Amino acid sequence: MGADSLTVIDNRTGKSYELPIKDGTINAMELRQIKVDAADFGLMAYDPSYLNTASCRSTITYIDGAQGILRYRGYPIEQLAESSTFLEVAYLILYGELPTQAQLDQWVWDITHHTLVHESLRILLDGFRYDAHPMGILMSAVGALSTFYPEARNVADAASVELQTRRLVAKMPSISAYAYRHAMGLPYVYPDNDLSYTGNFLNMMFKMTEMKYKPNPVLERALDILFILHADHEQNCSTSTMRMVGSSLPDPYVSVAAAAAALYGPRHGGANEAVVRMLTEIGDVKNVPEFIASVKRQERKLMGFGHRVYKNFDPRGIIIKRAAYDVFEVTGRSPLLDVALELERIALDDDYFVGRKLYPNVDFYSGIIYQALGLPTTMFTVMFAIPRTVGWLAQWRELLADSEQKIARPRQIYDGVMLRDYVPVEQRS
Ligand code: CMC
Repeated sequence: MGADSLTVIDNRTGKSYELPIKDGTINAMELRQIKVDAADFGLMAYDPSYLNTASCRSTITYIDGAQGILRYRGYPIEQLAESSTFLEVAYLILYGELPTQAQLDQWVWDITHHTLVHESLRILLDGFRYDAHPMGILMSAVGALSTFYPEARNVADAASVELQTRRLVAKMPSISAYAYRHAMGLPYVYPDNDLSYTGNFLNMMFKMTEMKYKPNPVLERALDILFILHADHEQNCSTSTMRMVGSSLPDPYVSVAAAAAALYGPRHGGANEAVVRMLTEIGDVKNVPEFIASVKRQERKLMGFGHRVYKNFDPRGIIIKRAAYDVFEVTGRSPLLDVALELERIALDDDYFVGRKLYPNVDFYSGIIYQALGLPTTMFTVMFAIPRTVGWLAQWRELLADSEQKIARPRQIYDGVMLRDYVPVEQRS
């Protein structure tokens, strides 16, 4: 084994440079010393869409995309999904260790007692049109929380950071359920402190005229597992947005609103919605071969397949498929399941998909589960945003404590016109 460095020869000048290699990376700022002359700005790395750039150090989530490994703070996702609860995993992700019983009890109590939202926020929600997309409502409402808690701007105050963390984890389900009830024209349901995090969420979503809502324990647990699977996924698009916005040091409410906006798109958290639309459009198992053919003609994408990091399998996809069967035991089998199973079967056997390392991701089955729970497709990305808030907050807190982090500010290659004189409007052709 040679030295931990990279020798670079700049053929423009013939000069040689030794760049240190640390943790499998070179520091991009080391490139800056590579210049043709003193006036030269220095070499930059060009990496559109950050395909090969580590933007931070993190101790939260470990992914090995080639081997299909996902761990939170070192614990395999399979063990957490099997044995833990969402709030326990949230504590682990935020604070780095599994809680003792006393810590867990306090944490659950704290979250349970921050679930109410200010009545003025509820009134604000009433202003949205009846058919407003719940993600639009969620983004607006969580951003608006910034105005309710002006002290949150003091991100150097550790006590405030703790308080806002609890508020956000606690209030996301309440706001999300309000967004749903608003769209349905149903009265808002206040939180029930006797229930678990997911049991209470189901209560706020589905309670009608009964005095006390009793969540089905199988559905409550399935939702808890889904929330565990979605809690963090290192530096994805929305988490990077959380860090990017957070790097200018605003309060966490506006950063979470921005992260939720990034999640909204069909390439990210919007994929589960797109999967159900795709399965509905296919409609029947007999139409699957023609659909696959159109994907191979590159006329469309197979939604819920492929991942930037996982190039073998998405471990969350396997756990979620099992959860789907548990849910269907209670709700009855979704007709879309057969279409999904056939799509998966054909795609996993086809060189086009195998060669491109395209496998079902977490979103392939989550949408069908949400549909079986009675949720409209517009709520699916909201269901992703609720648990991911924990990951966003943990990454934001890590950013605040990281002395290497400054305001995020990428560079560019300027491809435009270098200089020209202003032309008065009457002289333009
Ligand atoms: N269906 C058909 N072809 C695909 C798909 C797909 N879903 N995904 C990638 N490809 C092809 C792509 O066209 C390219 O082919 P070629 O080499 O012939 O040009 C090749 O596979 C490599 O794809 P890529 O675009 O370089 O991959 P990427 O890492 O940039 O994109 C992705 C990752 C997730 C955006 C993409 O796979 C995709 O759009 N999938 C469908 C949307 C989806 O399910 N998203 C949820 C991701 S998991 C949850 C989350 O993190 O939010």
